[in-house]
Amino acid sequence: MDFDIHSGELANQKVDAIIILHFQDQPPKEGEEFEKLNAATSGLLREHIREEEFESKLLQTLVLHSPRGLEAKHLVIVGAGQESDYTHSVARQVAAKGAQTAAELGVKTIAIQVYPAPAQETARMLVEGVLLGTYQFNKYKTIDKEKLAKRQLLKITLVSSAPAKIEELRRGAAYGESVATAIMNARDLVNEPPSKIKPSSLAMAAKEVAQLSANISAVVLDKDKLQKEGYRALLAVAAGSSEEPYLIHLCYKPKNARRRVAFVGKGVTFDSGGLGIKPWGAMLSMKADMAGAATVLGIFQALAELEALGQPIDQEVHGVIVASENMISGCAMKPDDIIETKNGKTIEILHTDAEGRLILADALTFTLLQNPQYIIDFATLTGAAIGALGPNYSAYMGNDQPLIKLVGEACQQTGELGWELPLPEIYQKYLKSDVADLQNINKNNFVPGAIYGGLFLQEFVNETPWVHIDIAGPGYENEGDNPVYPKGGTGYGILLGLKLLELL
Ligand code: BES
Ligand code: ZN
Ligand code: ZN
Repeated sequence: MDFDIHSGELANQKVDAIIILHFQDQPPKEGEEFEKLNAATSGLLREHIREEEFESKLLQTLVLHSPRGLEAKHLVIVGAGQESDYTHSVARQVAAKGAQTAAELGVKTIAIQVYPAPAQETARMLVEGVLLGTYQFNKYKTIDKEKLAKRQLLKITLVSSAPAKIEELRRGAAYGESVATAIMNARDLVNEPPSKIKPSSLAMAAKEVAQLSANISAVVLDKDKLQKEGYRALLAVAAGSSEEPYLIHLCYKPKNARRRVAFVGKGVTFDSGGLGIKPWGAMLSMKADMAGAATVLGIFQALAELEALGQPIDQEVHGVIVASENMISGCAMKPDDIIETKNGKTIEILHTDAEGRLILADALTFTLLQNPQYIIDFATLTGAAIGALGPNYSAYMGNDQPLIKLVGEACQQTGELGWELPLPEIYQKYLKSDVADLQNINKNNFVPGAIYGGLFLQEFVNETPWVHIDIAGPGYENEGDNPVYPKGGTGYGILLGLKLLELL
């Protein structure tokens, strides 16, 4: 997709479709651009808004075809809600909805209003919205290929009435394109079928990301090395699979780093449940059990691309991915097994399907050895997180109130939904095993599952400020009703992680 920045008027754009937003406020607060467009069409906009009782609720759309007075074939009006609620993340959603609507009309070129003009951040949001909103994963479709290609935008013009700020807009647009590209790659990784993306594929993807920047390194621990160094929890989970596990360490070290931040990702490329096998319905979508790993890879791709743009992020960032399958064979880990983790603690396996916490235990121990000041892990850890908050919210929890607050702020600012869960000390007793230090689940069904996962991981971070983000819900979208997030892999957490790097 090509981007172009114009100063001037929307009405004069020679494109297939013009996209303009409209606020819900009564009386309507319609800016200069709207007035000009309305005048160019001899009052067509206002006429339709009134006649069709268009309320301009958030993400409502109104399409005018062959609007008189314009060269554009379509005019798309996107409801933007109340102006006082119009944030960066709303701007991204509005752009996504507008671009989606245009793409469905089969148009190739669109012009979109930069509002509020002129801001670098707005340009970034619009580009992200357009790219993320029109993302499709069609690689494996052979029959409808041409029809699907018709729904592909080719060129986007950002139109601003403030000519002096063109350079700023250009920087913002380039930033947005980098971030969106990283997110779309993460989505592709999640959407690929499980026999295509294996633990070794994640290791390869990490090495590819490291190629993008001289400041990024990738070190991969293979099975031999994991055995020598005692990462037995990761090895135990991988034991039933014919695919070997990997621990992957990415490191981004720019010159003037402010802090050392580590992101940890769960990379189970397929979770069958192991011997405690999942029923078929629950096993569906378990190719997405590596969404946390995809998020970490996406953050690193964005770090590399932003650096190449001359807009680098000034933090030292570590990325630790544990990659494995959770499968069944004669070698598979068994219920009743006791495994010894890298940090020496022993775990009684009560359920082979609670595998994420096992591999993350070893990942967190490895991460502590890198001496980070903050740790944030992304993991599709528990169905219970979906039970608690539904499919669109992540559940986050941690051991450090200031860091937890920052995660909440990052959710607010990015529009990636999340909600805090507590890690009550009084529930720590549920972790105790009769025969080992910890048990990987508690059999009592009054014990809250998402919180249990968090309490379990907490045993492996010592005093380091840490937040666990359970993305079982938002990592993989089943409804696909948020215009920024399509069906399938979402890339959830990349915007959040990048925002945290800004806030820390
Ligand atoms: N990968 C799953 C969690 C999951 C469920 C992610 C649904 C996305 C959607 C995890 O490994 C798992 O199986 N968790 C079990 C834990 C249970 C055995 C304590 C679960 O949530 O059922
Ligand atoms: Zn599982
Ligand atoms: Zn899992």
